[in-house]
Amino acid sequence: MTRILVTGGAGFIGTHVVAALHDTGHHVSIMDCGHPGAHRAPLPDPVGGAALHRGDLRDRAAVAEALTGVDVVVHQAAMVGLGVDLDDLPEYVGCNDLGTAVLLAEMARAGIHRLVLASSMVVYGEGAYACPRHGPARPAPRAVADLATGQFEPLCADCGSALEPGPVGEAAPLDPRSGYAATKAAQEHLTSAWARQTGGTVVALRYHNVYGPGMPRDTPYSGVAAIFRSALEAGRAPRVFEDGGQRRDFVHVRDVAAANVAAVTATGTRTGWRAYNIASGHPATIGELAAGLARAADGPAPVVTGEFRLGDVRHVVASPARAESELGFRARIRLADGIAEFAHAPLRG
Ligand code: UD1
Repeated sequence: MTRILVTGGAGFIGTHVVAALHDTGHHVSIMDCGHPGAHRAPLPDPVGGAALHRGDLRDRAAVAEALTGVDVVVHQAAMVGLGVDLDDLPEYVGCNDLGTAVLLAEMARAGIHRLVLASSMVVYGEGAYACPRHGPARPAPRAVADLATGQFEPLCADCGSALEPGPVGEAAPLDPRSGYAATKAAQEHLTSAWARQTGGTVVALRYHNVYGPGMPRDTPYSGVAAIFRSALEAGRAPRVFEDGGQRRDFVHVRDVAAANVAAVTATGTRTGWRAYNIASGHPATIGELAAGLARAADGPAPVVTGEFRLGDVRHVVASPARAESELGFRARIRLADGIAEFAHAPLRG
């Protein structure tokens, strides 16, 4: 039996990861600080049958204590989302990067060499694009003037044609475009340096847009699926930004949990650092997500507002091929089925 510590194991994704690891026969414990950005109520103990070490990853003594007797760490703890404003930035960097640094230092000290890192597709910035005439292209940061006039699609710098989006592979350069994204890219760099220095193994899972039961309600840290679902629960129409044509890959949280189980196994056979897209491979537009959820919840039809947020990218969809060939992971839950369940599933308070 492998003994696994799941950081952030009381959170939305962490709870599902703990349950899946438990069901696979692993011994699971949790370290979680119950961060107010993610939890409105004090954490229960145990959480989902796993013992809880209540503590902050920046606290070396607490981390050392939680790591006692552990074989593998599954690092889910992080502040996520766009946040409120730049006042949030020190807390993002503190939780996500200083917290990861303390975890890595204490793992090295304890002789623990196996790590699964919850990373994110936000490290790519924009997804992959090609110009019909000039081939692969990397869009420039989006200009307010373009967005304000409804020009949402990135254009080719050479000829001005609309670029065509395609699936992004793991070899794409990192181009984080928000503070949160920068902290996730830094986690990848820190864990990669740690793997080289210690001879350890890191499997970094770049989650695409995760949704499903237990997602937090609408907060400045929530993804769009939770925002739409919260609006519908309150009898309001989902508000679709831009023109609704922006594409994402929505992957169900139980599929993400299964990916973590596969990643834990892989840390026992692989060496070094390796990243994987964790995605369904079936992209959808934000407009389609909103319409599907509104239908399934029998709620008001979505409103396309034309609003935009400067930190947003236009399209980011993924190739899940590497995770399938190397981890044996493939998402199983179709978006239509996941939406039908999510439309009525409980959200986290
Ligand atoms: C999201 C998360 C990120 C996570 C990543 C992968 C945020 C801000 N980003 O990135 O933390 O790592 O998924 O799981 O939480 N939108 C609307 N109406 C709204 C809110 C948003 O139409 O009320 C649109 C946005 O303009 C954007 C799209 O929905 O085009 C996705 O938004 P969101 O889920 O917030 O961010 P992602 O960039 O997809």
